[in-house]
Amino acid sequence: MIARLNVNIDHVATVRQARRAPEPSIIAAAMICEQAGADGITVHLRGDRRHIQDNDLRTLRDAVATYLNLEMAATEEMLKIALERRPDAVTLVAENPNEITTEGGLDVKANMSIVRATVGRLRQAEILASLFIDPNPPQIEAAHAVGAQQVELCTAVYADTTLGGRGIHGEGALRAGQELRRLSEAAALASQYGLRVAAGHGLTYRNVGAVAAISEITEFNIGHNIVSRAIFSGLDRAVQEMREAISAGSLPSGQQAG
Ligand code: PXP
Repeated sequence: MIARLNVNIDHVATVRQARRAPEPSIIAAAMICEQAGADGITVHLRGDRRHIQDNDLRTLRDAVATYLNLEMAATEEMLKIALERRPDAVTLVAENPNEITTEGGLDVKANMSIVRATVGRLRQAEILASLFIDPNPPQIEAAHAVGAQQVELCTAVYADTTLGGRGIHGEGALRAGQELRRLSEAAALASQYGLRVAAGHGLTYRNVGAVAAISEITEFNIGHNIVSRAIFSGLDRAVQEMREAISAGSLPSGQQAG
């Protein structure tokens, strides 16, 4: 099965917030992504509101017809907003006010009680509870123990090994192989626990294929690379090309997309 693609449109809001202007419209972006074949839209409402604003979530909830995934920290403030706005899924992430982007997975093992309580309240409201974690067995076991329905495996370390050509030869390729194995083993373990498996962070048109070949991964959340390409090629084409890269990676080797 080919994995679903949720497009993270935070960076459309980043451009808008640079001028505190009405454009570019986050709603137009979401509609174009859906029309181009995205299976869902992802946004991260950060504590510092650096890109997505509270009102964006309200308008997106009305406009998004596919699937709305809200990334957020496990705080009372965010939980209240999620329960009001009712996205289809909430992905709990670690959030550090000074970080440029999410720096790694949530340490579920070290925060069992708060994560368990937040997952419980989301599930009670029939919102799918997903946890963004590093691809490590203890974190997967903890995610299962707190009642999460899905894990999103952080692909940042794998993605780093593929940057700047270092991934093509020598040490980069070796490290990429090791990281792919770690992702693949983590996906298999999560699936054995009955968890749905998503993946994301730092994925690009070039490196997503190898991750898409991991059959347990059924969803990708990808933002920066798609929005970057959209500046030059248009958002619809950028989304279509990411869908194609995922499909090409999902096919058994040797088979070509028709
Ligand atoms: N998944 C999670 C949990 C994230 O925090 C992010 C970044 O907001 C992404 C996926 C998307 O990462 P990228 O923008 O590098 O594709």
